[in-house]
Amino acid sequence: MISLDTKNVLAQTIGSHHGLDLEFAIQNHRDSIKDIVEALWHQPETKNGWRRWLKLGENQKLVDDINAYVKTLPQDLEHLVIIGIGGSSLGGMAMFEALLPSYWNERSREQRNGRPRYYFIDNVDPDKLQGLLSILDLKRTLVNVITKSGTTAETMAGYLWLKAELEKAVGKENLSKHLVMTTDPAKGILRDIVQKEGLKAFEVPEDVGGRFSVFSAVGLLPAGILGLPIAEMLQGIQDLVPQVSNPDVDQNMAAQGALVQYVCYQNQKPISVFMPYSAKLAYVADWYVQLWAESLGKKMSLDQRVVHEGPTPVKAVGVTDQHSQVQLFNEGPFDKVFTFVRLEKFNEDLTIPNLYPDVSDLSYLGNRTFETLLQAEGDATRASLSKNQRPNMTITLPKLDAYHFAQLLYLLEVQTAIMGGLLKVDPFDQPGVELAKQYTYALMGRPGFEHLKDEALGKTLQPAIG
Ligand code: PA5
Repeated sequence: MISLDTKNVLAQTIGSHHGLDLEFAIQNHRDSIKDIVEALWHQPETKNGWRRWLKLGENQKLVDDINAYVKTLPQDLEHLVIIGIGGSSLGGMAMFEALLPSYWNERSREQRNGRPRYYFIDNVDPDKLQGLLSILDLKRTLVNVITKSGTTAETMAGYLWLKAELEKAVGKENLSKHLVMTTDPAKGILRDIVQKEGLKAFEVPEDVGGRFSVFSAVGLLPAGILGLPIAEMLQGIQDLVPQVSNPDVDQNMAAQGALVQYVCYQNQKPISVFMPYSAKLAYVADWYVQLWAESLGKKMSLDQRVVHEGPTPVKAVGVTDQHSQVQLFNEGPFDKVFTFVRLEKFNEDLTIPNLYPDVSDLSYLGNRTFETLLQAEGDATRASLSKNQRPNMTITLPKLDAYHFAQLLYLLEVQTAIMGGLLKVDPFDQPGVELAKQYTYALMGRPGFEHLKDEALGKTLQPAIG
């Protein structure tokens, strides 16, 4: 199982100035954590409670549906294009980078076990879009449009564009074979299109928000198309449930992680650095940044007070960032708490050759494995941060596979929800992104938003109060 080590946040390890008295913190927050965890897991689900993501591991039917759908796809499918943004793309990106063999798109068809290459469209940059179009073989392309709301401008613009291109390439009568949608079961423009045009569609279940949706069809459908073991992911989650649903903080890893983050945040450490020591987990850091930022950065508290809460998440990747951000981490302000992710064992065993046995400044590397070097660098970074009184914790995965990868993301999701409870904010809404969306609509001439145009242009903009 995945595990969490909090030794390096303790005052005994890193000194009392910046270290935590975790026992004291646990005593202080034991009851509130119990209430938060019980409310999260055990209160009856209500509409708009947004807690159905906790149960996604139970959805064996989805696995069967995806496997059945994958069997209907043409044998010579070459390109899978996934159009989505934010919670509708970041989980998939993290998953495929972590679990597919590296340089997937550069591999031959045989090396990909006959599965397609994949591309995400999560931006409306025309240069990037045209670049993608120029390499796609549209006759052998499947497009998966993912949008929970079914209205997101960036995603729908990408869909409109690629649909028109597909139509030119394959003809209107064949279009439906090249499209599969993932959207709300009932609401949104995309659902209307699905119904009117008879398109194949999967559901983002009701009450599962974007950034908590990776284990719904949002992540699992493209994962299944790419041949990843999706049932193992759900098993990984299910096996973690007893742990992360335990109301006793001593027995609950997600609650312990949240508590460390919370106490550090209260202790003038508003920055939460997430640093996997695995290049293949780099996009998990992007996913974490979105999960943390959109869930916890809030103006209003649950009891409707203006609070402007929220730790700032920062992405770092070991070993790369040792030559970038680690200088700041070790010597800059004492404003950060660190989460490392460590793999107990890498899948590949690669040895550094001893090409210069007489050069002692190089021969110490010779005949050692890259894994040994990477682990040494991770240990060294942790030790230097601890010596410099920087609280850091480490999540360890026994290995990088579908089962443990799913546990990592699920653990972080539950930790985020509990952190929301401790901060007394709603981790499942995102009102702060609405205003810019509305200004965009006004600038793009969407009916009903004309009144915001001058404000969006800065002509009549008045700063908000409070
Ligand atoms: O986490 C979230 O809710 C957001 O990041 C959404 O995923 C993002 O805005 C995309 O929304 P939608 O899936 O409705 O297109």
